[in-house]
Order: sequence, then structure tokens, then C-alpha cells
Amino acid sequence: MDVTDFDGVLVIGGGLAGLSAALAAAPRRVRLITPAPLGEACSSAWAQGGIAAALAEDDAPALHAADTMAAGAGLVEPDRAALLAEEGPSAVLRLAGLGAPFDRDAGGGFVLSREAAHGRARVARVGGDQAGQAIMEAVIRRVRASAHIEILEGWTLKGLVQDSGGAVCGARLERAAAEIVLRASAVILATGGVGGLYAETTTPAALIGEGLAAAALVGAVIADPEFVQFHPTALDIGRDPAPLVTEALRGEGAWLVNGSGARFMTGLHPDGELAPRDVVARAIHAERMAGRGAYLDARASVGAHFPQAFPTVYAACRSAGLDPCGEPIPVAPACHYHMGGILTDAEGATSLTGLYAAGECASSGVHGANRLASNSLLEAAVFGARAGRAASRRVAVLKPLMRTPGLSRLPHPDLQALRRSMTREAGVVRDAAGLNRLLSQVDALAGRFPDAGPVIAARLIAECALDRRESRGAHFRLDYPSLAVEARRTLVRLEAGALSRKAA
Ligand code: SIN
Repeated sequence: MDVTDFDGVLVIGGGLAGLSAALAAAPRRVRLITPAPLGEACSSAWAQGGIAAALAEDDAPALHAADTMAAGAGLVEPDRAALLAEEGPSAVLRLAGLGAPFDRDAGGGFVLSREAAHGRARVARVGGDQAGQAIMEAVIRRVRASAHIEILEGWTLKGLVQDSGGAVCGARLERAAAEIVLRASAVILATGGVGGLYAETTTPAALIGEGLAAAALVGAVIADPEFVQFHPTALDIGRDPAPLVTEALRGEGAWLVNGSGARFMTGLHPDGELAPRDVVARAIHAERMAGRGAYLDARASVGAHFPQAFPTVYAACRSAGLDPCGEPIPVAPACHYHMGGILTDAEGATSLTGLYAAGECASSGVHGANRLASNSLLEAAVFGARAGRAASRRVAVLKPLMRTPGLSRLPHPDLQALRRSMTREAGVVRDAAGLNRLLSQVDALAGRFPDAGPVIAARLIAECALDRRESRGAHFRLDYPSLAVEARRTLVRLEAGALSRKAA
């Protein structure tokens, strides 16, 4: 294997967190590694609703932080939520300064939507439901024009490498049949989430927890992997991945009905359709399991404005022969976001020297058991930049390579079978019997493919979901439906293929 040395920061991942890290690392040199051309195969570009920040006159970072903590159901780190909310407005202004064309009112202010579990309208949007794509286009333009960033497209992460002192000092990268080791002063993982581990997902299917697995393989501490968020309303048209139907539609007054046209959220929660995401997802799941079906009805609230107000959702509906202006559209919960991930501090540093993480693959402490709507782009921008700045300050003395463990591939049929089991057994509702069935399958796969990324990531989620004998946020156990008195984070490390617990 070729070994190349690079005196700079290696950023792995081309979503908003990776790009924010790369920009913030200036003037330090950066090599930005992405498996796909920038803007493709990353969840950031698929985000619809927008980016949350306390931008309104009647809002304040403390209110945003309080909503973030309440949604996170006891597991949000208060200092991180405060930091996210305080840096929110300047992060949005920075993105606007890069050219992100946020929707503006007549006075030039941001048009702000209200989404579930937000006490104020605070989601800055673009073109109704095109925030992710428009923000990414602006940031990508700046990244491509930045002399300190060298972009290496088409390379996938094969593993992390450690030096004789145990520090992470680079990565194994693969393109076609070629594999190289790139040693660098610091590595930032920004590889996204685990949506592709589920048969029903709103994220690019290529996101199968590779960064999470690579970090676990070299012994990084992983936090709260059992917390997976299911978006209540993916368009239920049998597509993989499933098109997202943004929550902003419910913010505009669209309501949920079953196949008989009866609204089912009104009696369930005082906030009705704008109840926390996990509550709505479980209600939709229950209607579907009972054979009644679930539909989003935007006829009265959005009606004829649908094509202009929500062009992305409208196009997805039309591609399936549905007309959301004139009929309720079928919806189902789908895997949307991983709250758990590689444990980081406020600067993106992980438990391993030299390794940083940002965005969905990280657990920065701001999401807890349930991410607040539209906090993901914000977290990517704020904590991506913080990780970039911190990593840029690291000056490493290159030592001999010690460990270069590599991820192996999981054959396609095995991955598809695993995805179906993850949706069934580690989905919106869980119980011990289902999680044990899933773990038997994971064990069997691990016997054949011990270092396959999806197998490692699935083990982290399933084992920690089995261990968490309570229901909290997005983790709902049919056999343990109550909230435990004490809110405890999960901290685990992979040791010789098995998970060992760390004290929280
Ligand atoms: C949405 O537009 O409903 C998704 C926003 C988010 O996941 O935060």
C-alpha cells in the first residue's frame, strides 16, 4: 500500500459539516475526501425544512436552547445546546454571506417557519423546501474557490490508521482497485449517518455508518448509538430512499388523517401534528399497523399554492402520480437521522488523539434522545467549523504506523437483509425479542464479515437499544414503555469485536 504524508488536515465527508470544517481550517491546508462528487450522496443537500436559529425579534438563543433540551428528553448536554443556539444566528448569517439565498420578507428579514417542538418560528428556509440544496450549492462554490482546500472526489474511507503512540494519524482510502494510506496531522470524520442501514430511509442509501464503524474499529468512544430518529412523514410510494415530506407542511397547517379521513393527532397530544417527531412517528406507525393507513392532507392549508410553496415535495408527489393540491398523500415513518455517534467535545475532538468528528456521524451532545427539527444543518455548520478550527491547530510529529485496521464490504444481499431487519426490529418501536432476533443475525454476519462497517454499526445500535430498558425520545421499547428516573447517556467502546461499556 502506498503511504503518503500530508502536513495538514484530512476531512472525510462532503456534507455541510465536512465543508464547514474544511473552510474553517484555513489557512491550514486541507484534503477533502468524498466518495461522490460534492453535493451528491450527502443528507445535507436533501434537507428540506431549513436551518433553525433564534433570528426573530421575539426569540432568543436561550429559548432555542431550552427547546433543544426539551426535545432531547434529558440527554442533551446543556453547555452544548447553549453554544449551538448562541452561535446559530451568526452561522446563518455566514451561510447567507456565502450566497445561500434564504427566503426574505419585504423588509429583508428572514422568513421563518415553525416546526415541531419549537416554541417560536425560527427555521430559516430557502425556496420553501429547498434549503439543503441551496445552502450546499453556496458552500460548495466557496470550497471550490478556496486555495487551501484540495478536493479528492471518488475516494472512500477504508479505515483509520494509528501511530505507535495510539494517535490517529491518517486514513486508508480506496478508489476502484487502488488503496492508499494518507498520513496527516489531524483527521476529521464527517461521513454522515446510518440511514442506509434501514430499508426505509429518507437519506442517501450509501450512508451506512462507515465513519462510525471506522472510529469504533480503532477504539473511539461511541455515544448513544441506540438513538435513531424516524421522520414521521416520508412519502409512502415504495421508493428507496423514500422522498421526504417536510415537517414545514405541518407547520403550515397540513394535518394527518387515516384512511377513513379521521384526524388522529388531535386527541393524542396538545400540539397535535406539531407534537415532537417521535410522538408523531409512533402515531403514524400505529395507524399503519392497525391497517388504517396514514396520509398528510394539505388541501385546506396549502392547496393550490403547493407547487410554489413546496416544489420538492410537489415534484416527488407528481412523479408518483399524486396531486397534493387535491388529495391526501400517503406517508410512513422512515429512518432520518442518527443522534448517536462518535463522542466529541465542544471542539469536535474525539476520545482518540488526532481524531475529530462533526455532523451526523458525531455525538456532540446537542441532540440527546431526539433531535429538534432543523437543528441538524445548524449543528453541521457550527460544530463543523469548530472541529475545523481545532484540527487546524494540531501539529503532529509523524511516528511509525502501528495499526491500520480496514473495513470490509458486506455483500449486497446480506446488506439488504440487514436493512429489512433493522427497520423491523430496531425501528420506531422495539422490544427485547425483536432486538435479540436482530442481534442473532448481526452475530451470524459478524462470523463471516467481522469488520464490515454495516455489521459494526448495526451491532452498536441493536446492542445498546437492547441494553436501554426504558423509553426515551426516539427510542421506544414496547416492553419498557416508561422513562427511567435517571437520564444516562450510553458510552461504549468496541474491543476485540465486542462492546464494552464506559462510565457515563
Ligand atoms: C423536515 O424538513 O421535515 C426535516 C427537517 C429536519 O430533519 O430537521
